[in-house]
Amino acid sequence: MKKLFSFMLIAVFALTACSSPKSLVKVKDGVLQPIETEVPVRPAGQKHVLGLTTPKMDVVRVGFIGLGMRGPGAVDRFTHIPGVEIKALCDLHPERVEKTQKILERNNFPRATGYSGSEDAWKAMCERDDIDLIYIVTDWKRHAPMAIYAMEHGKHVAVEVPGAMTLDEIWNIINTAERTQKHCMMLENCVYDFFELTTLNMLQKGVFGEVLYAEGAYIHQLEDFWGAYEADWRLKYNREFRGDVYATHGMGPACQALDIHRGDKMNYLVAMDSKPISIPAFIERTTGEKVTDFQNGQLTMTMIRTEKGRTIQIQHDVATPRPYSRLYNVAGTKGYASKYPVQNYAVQGEQLDATVTPNHEDLNAHSFVSREVRESLMKKYKHPIHVELEEQAKKVGGHGGMDFIMDYRLVYCLQNGLPLDMDVYDLAEWSCLAELTRISLENNSAPVAIPDFTRGYWNTTKGYRHAFAK
Ligand SMILES: NC(=O)c1ccc[n+]([C@@H]2O[C@H](COP(=O)([O-])OP(=O)(O)OC[C@H]3O[C@@H](n4cnc5c(N)ncnc54)[C@H](O)[C@@H]3O)[C@@H](O)[C@H]2O)c1
Repeated sequence: MKKLFSFMLIAVFALTACSSPKSLVKVKDGVLQPIETEVPVRPAGQKHVLGLTTPKMDVVRVGFIGLGMRGPGAVDRFTHIPGVEIKALCDLHPERVEKTQKILERNNFPRATGYSGSEDAWKAMCERDDIDLIYIVTDWKRHAPMAIYAMEHGKHVAVEVPGAMTLDEIWNIINTAERTQKHCMMLENCVYDFFELTTLNMLQKGVFGEVLYAEGAYIHQLEDFWGAYEADWRLKYNREFRGDVYATHGMGPACQALDIHRGDKMNYLVAMDSKPISIPAFIERTTGEKVTDFQNGQLTMTMIRTEKGRTIQIQHDVATPRPYSRLYNVAGTKGYASKYPVQNYAVQGEQLDATVTPNHEDLNAHSFVSREVRESLMKKYKHPIHVELEEQAKKVGGHGGMDFIMDYRLVYCLQNGLPLDMDVYDLAEWSCLAELTRISLENNSAPVAIPDFTRGYWNTTKGYRHAFAK
């Protein structure tokens, strides 16, 4: 009798659970289906911006919004790029604008028009007709409204990472870029780091065989930084939102390695997180507040499966005392690249020739190659962008040079009327984890569909390539 009652209870519960109108999870032919989010229809007459080019510009006239920890470095880097005019500087705080004017002065640039003092001062800057590019370095919640307003006022946009935090923001950015036919590039610097770009060149030349998976991460304990962000925006965001809120440093290099929306596309993800401990404890230690509502996991892990049956694994941990890492592991059928903790390659001998190592026949991928072979590989496959810019990039700096290369390439492509290295769909794909992982986590790690942000054109471009002027 007791058994029968328990069975009935389970049956009633199962029926209620299955028929709940609120359930996002669907089963078809006995197979769990990824949770779908709404994909807005592309408005009639609106064109995609894949491979977008705009008329060449001799001079790129730029205005910067956000001069906190990161912004002034960008202004400094721009003074080292030929064919640039810095027209305007904007921050909530006038003293930050003034401090950045000193950078211009030091580098023999004329003073720029300063905007500050109110939340909306940046709008007047976007409304000017003598600026080509608005460069946004504010906190995450302000990225999308600023990018959209700038494009609506005829400007190209470069926006810091993540480009947007919600799917609504992402679709609004895409629709605005498509409607205005303006560039909107997310400033993902890690795709230009030396190991990543060399490895990309190697895998594009087939050294690793068929690439099957890539791993990336943002693992960086932020205890030393929390107090430094304007009005505590970053800690507040992590407190409020569960999910991988800062995925782009891992996603960028992984997606380029897998030609995402250039021959492959991400179909769905699943996410799982560990309970948050270190950051709530940090808040209690430093403020006395006992935190019970902290949302962001200690470690958030995401797994993604692509249309071509390949995978991406991404991690986010800004809480744990452990060494900085972006993982960056890429594996193919003939070899493997790994950046952290020690950068190296493992490659099957037949993939190499005597220009790399005279003993290539003895090589197998069971262990990493020797230092000599690694150096020889990195020399042979040095990316053309690094051949041109490495020396100057290391002098100007910015995360070891990758920030300068990113800015230089942005200006170079605009000047030469070329497609930018990263388009608005990259921004969407690399930023969408913030909301999609939250949905997965809130549904016991259920699979969540990753929209095709190109809305039908993911297989039009064949392979990821950087553009160069002839
Ligand atoms: N790519 C990287 O390696 C990297 C590194 C650090 C930061 N970032 C990104 O850069 C952005 C900024 O980070 P940060 O560390 O400089 O933060 P921050 O808090 O130090 O700076 C943000 C600045 O934006 C200004 N601001 C805010 N609202 C404004 C408004 N309405 N008008 C004008 N100015 C406004 C603030 O006054 C502040 O000076 C973030 O998106 C962050 O993720 C990227």
